[in-house]
Formats: sequence, C-alpha cells, structure tokens
Amino acid sequence: MARASGVFIVAVAALAGCTEWVAPRPGLTEQDQALLSSMVLRGMPVDPRNEYLDDAAVAEFGQQLFFDRGLSRVVLPDAGPMDGGLTDGGIDPLDAGYVLTDTGYPLATQGVACVHCHVPAAGFSDDRTARNVSLGLRWTARNSPTVLNVAFYEWWGWDGRADTLWGQSVHAYDSPATMGGDPLRLARALAARYSDRYRALFGELLPDLDDARFEPPRAPDAEAELRRIYDRSMKAWAAYMSRLNSFDSPFDRFAQGDDHALGEGARRGLTLFFGKAGCVQCHRGPMFTDNQFHSVGLGQTGLNVPSVDKGRSSGLDLLKKLPTAFRRVADVPAPTESDVGRFRTKSLRNVSLTGPYMHAGQLETLKDVVWFYNRGGDRDGLGTPSVFMEPLGLTESEQSDLVLFLESLTGQPPDARWSCDNSRETVEGMERRFGAPCAVIP
Ligand code: HEC
Ligand code: HEC
Repeated sequence: MARASGVFIVAVAALAGCTEWVAPRPGLTEQDQALLSSMVLRGMPVDPRNEYLDDAAVAEFGQQLFFDRGLSRVVLPDAGPMDGGLTDGGIDPLDAGYVLTDTGYPLATQGVACVHCHVPAAGFSDDRTARNVSLGLRWTARNSPTVLNVAFYEWWGWDGRADTLWGQSVHAYDSPATMGGDPLRLARALAARYSDRYRALFGELLPDLDDARFEPPRAPDAEAELRRIYDRSMKAWAAYMSRLNSFDSPFDRFAQGDDHALGEGARRGLTLFFGKAGCVQCHRGPMFTDNQFHSVGLGQTGLNVPSVDKGRSSGLDLLKKLPTAFRRVADVPAPTESDVGRFRTKSLRNVSLTGPYMHAGQLETLKDVVWFYNRGGDRDGLGTPSVFMEPLGLTESEQSDLVLFLESLTGQPPDARWSCDNSRETVEGMERRFGAPCAVIP
C-alpha cells in the first residue's frame, strides 16, 4: 500500500469501476496493473429490460428450448437438397442426427436445436465440424461462437446483428441456415410440447393454435398473442444463457492477487498482451473486447465459406430488421463504406475451448492466431485493416508465451444443472454429443 500514489488509485478506480485495491506486483507497471484490475469478471449480468432474467424457472424453460430439436423446421428427405450441403468439412452427419441422401447431402430429419451448434462439452461452441462453419438446416455463413458469458456482451453476432441477447435469440431461431423458425411455428411447437409448463410459468393458456385465427390472414388479436409467446420465449432463451457463466480463470485469480495462479510463461504472455503485442488495444475490459468493429484483413477461405462477407455492414442491416421491442438502439444508422469488412472484437474468455478461430474459422489453433497477428494480419478481406495491424516482431518463444496467456483465460465450467438436457425428449444416441439428460446428472 505504501507504494501507491494517489494518482494510481484514481486510475484503477476509474478503469475498474470500483475502488477495490489489489497490491501491485513486481514486474508489472502501474498502467498494466490498472488494466489488469479492470479485466476481472464477476457477478451476474444485468439487463433491466428482460423481466425474466432473475427467474430460474423461466431460465429452466429456456434450457428446455435450447436442447429441443422439435422447435425447428424439419427438412424432409423429399424436400430436395439444401444449398451448399456437401458433407465434406469433417462432420459425421449420422452422428450429428442427419441422414444422407444418395447424392451425399445431409438432411436434418429430426430437426435442429441450439445445442447442436453450441455444444456444452465444446465450451458451448461447435465441435461437430472439423473446421470453419456449422451445419444447421444448411451450412451457416460463419463459425459458431461460444455462448459462455454471452450475457456480458454489448453486441451479439460476429457483425453485431443484435444489441440485446433476446434479439440475438430471434436471429438464432429464425435464420434459414440454423432452425428456420417463425412465431407461428414456435407457438405451435410449444402448444404441442410444453403447454402445461408454459401455463405454469406465464399464467395464461396457450391459445388453440388450430384456430383459424392463426392462419393467414390472421386476426389482430392472434398477431398480438403470437408476438407475446415469441417475446417470452426469446427472453427465456436469454435468461437461460445468462446462467452459462464461466468465471474464476487462472487469469482472474492472478488479477485478484494470487501470484501463483499464472505460470512464468503466461505471465510473460500477459506483459506482451498489454505491451509489445498490442492485443489490449482492442481486447480490453472484463470481456477482452472494446465492443467495437475492426478489420484484421482475413480472407474468406475454407470449406463451405461464402466468398463475400460484408461483416458489420450486413450486421447493421440485420439489426434494423429486428422489431424495435427486441433492440436497444432505436434508430439504426445506415451502414457506410467503412463498416464493410469489419467484425466485432471477439471476447477471448474460454478461447482455448472454442477453436477453430475467427468469423469463418479461418485459423485452426491459437498458435496460428498469434502467428497471424505477428505477421501483421492479412490484406485479403473487404475494407481497410485497422491501423493496429502491423508486424509485431515477436520471437518464437514470445509467441508461445502469448498462447500460454490465452490458455489462462479458461474459467470454471457453469453449474452442471445448466449443461444437461432437460428438454421434453432426448433423442436416443445423441446424449454423448449434446449432454446427458438432467436426471442422470449426479
Ligand atoms: C446451425 C448452427 C446454429 C444453431 C442451430 C444455433 N446457432 Fe447460435 N450461432 C451460430 C452462428 C454461426 C453464430 C454467429 C452468427 C453470425 O455472426 O453470423 C451464432 C451466434 C449466436 C449467439 C451470439 C454469440 C456471440 O458471440 O455474439 C448467440 C447468443 C446464439 N448464437 C444463441 C443461439 C440460440 C439461443 C440458438 C437456438 C435458438 C442458436 N444459437 C442456434 C450457429 C448456430
Ligand atoms: C484491431 C483490433 C485488434 C487487435 C489489435 C487484436 N485483435 Fe484479436 N480480434 C479482433 C477482431 C475484430 C477479431 C474478429 C476478427 C474476424 O473474425 O474477422 C479478433 C479475433 C481474435 C481471436 C479469435 C477469437 C475466436 O473466438 O475466434 C483471437 C484468439 C484473438 N483475436 C487474439 C488476439 C491477440 C492474441 C492479439 C494480439 C496479438 C489480438 N487479438 C489483437 C480485433 C483485434
């Protein structure tokens, strides 16, 4: 304490948003120490606009929806092939619950659930595909990110297509590549599968969805009812994901004063991350993100990866399409030329669990990522790479230290009760991949 100057205490307090004092460490500058204190992740996320966030019963309902493949559109074998549906890409479609047509197209005959692309055993990202992108009803355009700690973000999607977590749930459910959902489909599935549960939670009977009012052209009251069901379900998904928190990584313990939590290599990596490697220019704060969009110059390479991705530019278009009730920003600005090719600075928490990396899984390992930054990134994407993308001149051993540091960002897994399958029916044979039924969790 004696070494602390008044100026330093103010700086820590301003950055960390609190006045907690952590003793300075030998080998860390005051500035690095202040940065470090500002990056500890604690507590539950807050979201005053989701009235169900604190309701554990609604979160459990969200968990059921997360594991349930009965809510999606189902591609029947006679419906013709999906676009871009070649199985090559390392996926074992049969293992993942698909059937193959004669021509080798995988068809999701049993439907698709959130859990297929956000697998608990893979840090809630997708380990079914060896590289690149995910398979839902079709190949997705991008790599499946983790949903661990996802409630702490400000923007969702690689392109910031949502600015609330339940708005992102709309994109996740509605996209033709993921589950192909819509309000009527969801309401029908809930009425058939969860009507008692829904009534117990929300105190209202699901309407009789065979009622002609729900067929187009729909009566105004039917529209309002569908919207209410939809809104509650999206918030239930968000309440569930808000419990998938992973704290207490070696990094967090080090930042809170445990000198032994990081090995020598990871500590050197930390100094590089803050200094010579410049990662903290963009990966800062408790989620290791500045919540901004940048180009690092990646090309659109890899199996099933679309040749063009406009990044933030298309994210703004998608954000604007969300109904205002699902948004934080009321007036979404039109994309400008400078938004083209930018992507959200990704959180780095739990990054060792969630390869491959980058928006289209272009880089396979963390070593590849560090090598990529060390060469100053690429110039192969749309738009202009950030001014921070310059060669770093890191030695081989400095690069290894940086990887060790990234590996120290892996937290404790969330409570097992949130990682098991409590949905209406577990498809036999799928438990190994997507999580055991909750009843058999010890
Ligand atoms: C077919 C695979 C697939 C399915 C099924 C799927 N997702 Fe995703 N998810 C993705 C991909 C790919 C992205 C990245 C979207 C983008 O930026 O293009 C994503 C992004 C997300 C994000 C934002 C994460 C971040 O880093 O911003 C959340 C939250 C999410 N999904 C939740 C869900 C929920 C809830 C469901 C079920 C309703 C679901 N997902 C179903 C593939 C999938
Ligand atoms: C100019 C801002 C910027 C700088 C500097 C920067 N990053 Fe990034 N980082 C990003 C953006 C943006 C993405 C997403 C890029 C994409 O997918 O196109 C990203 C993605 C990543 C990913 C992939 C995460 C995932 O889940 O796929 C890792 C790992 C990473 N950065 C580590 C680092 C390291 C280590 C450094 C320092 C050597 C660094 N970054 C420097 C902006 C930056």
